[in-house]
Amino acid sequence: MSQLHVINHPMIQHKLTIMRKKETGSKDFRELLKEIALLMGYEVTRDLPLDTVEIETPICRTQAKQVKGRKMAIVPILRAGMGMVEGLQTLVPVAKVGHIGLYRNEETHEPVVYYCKLPEDIQDRLVIVTDPMLATGGSACDALQMLKERGCTNIRLMCLVGAPEGIERVQREHPDVDIYLAAVDECLNENAYIVPGLGDAGDRIFGTK
Ligand code: PRP
Ligand code: URA
Repeated sequence: MSQLHVINHPMIQHKLTIMRKKETGSKDFRELLKEIALLMGYEVTRDLPLDTVEIETPICRTQAKQVKGRKMAIVPILRAGMGMVEGLQTLVPVAKVGHIGLYRNEETHEPVVYYCKLPEDIQDRLVIVTDPMLATGGSACDALQMLKERGCTNIRLMCLVGAPEGIERVQREHPDVDIYLAAVDECLNENAYIVPGLGDAGDRIFGTK
């Protein structure tokens, strides 16, 4: 069974509250999402294995730690997942970035694929899928399935806000994928929006509504 990690650090909770407010504009929304992604990145990468290497400081030779040659890829689900990429790249500058384009059909709420471009060696990488919203879980499950069809075996899902319905669906369909969230909200409304949520993340990031 996949693990659910809810990262309830006070600074993350504080920033998320500002993001939720309807009066918060796109510029602040984007900056806060980037900051939270960086902070969440610490937890998502917490168990990466380390190597001991010999280095020379200005004072002496010593043994020090470095992340073991584990390659990473960040895969945002377009559009809103893009808002979490820069924060993660600040933490892991060498990570490659793939893109999966999905949008929800507004009537059926089913995801529709329109783009997929992934690093050639994606199957050899630890993949962090980003998307601020985990609502029905349809988009996340489709993206995870696409990655598995490309041979990925080591995938983590990093979202901001999740609904119980979406969390359960990912855990049922992808029990090998750990989920990282800043908050578990109450439920979905009749339009499959998260309640209380923060509205349409893509529109708030890009100012399209
Ligand atoms: C939003 C969000 C997720 C999806 C979540 O994207 O960013 O990708 O909905 O809903 P689900 O869990 O029910 O699939 P949207 O389809 O609105 O596209 P956008 O990011 O381009 O705005
Ligand atoms: N997508 C969003 O952007 N927000 C929601 O609440 C649900 C899906």
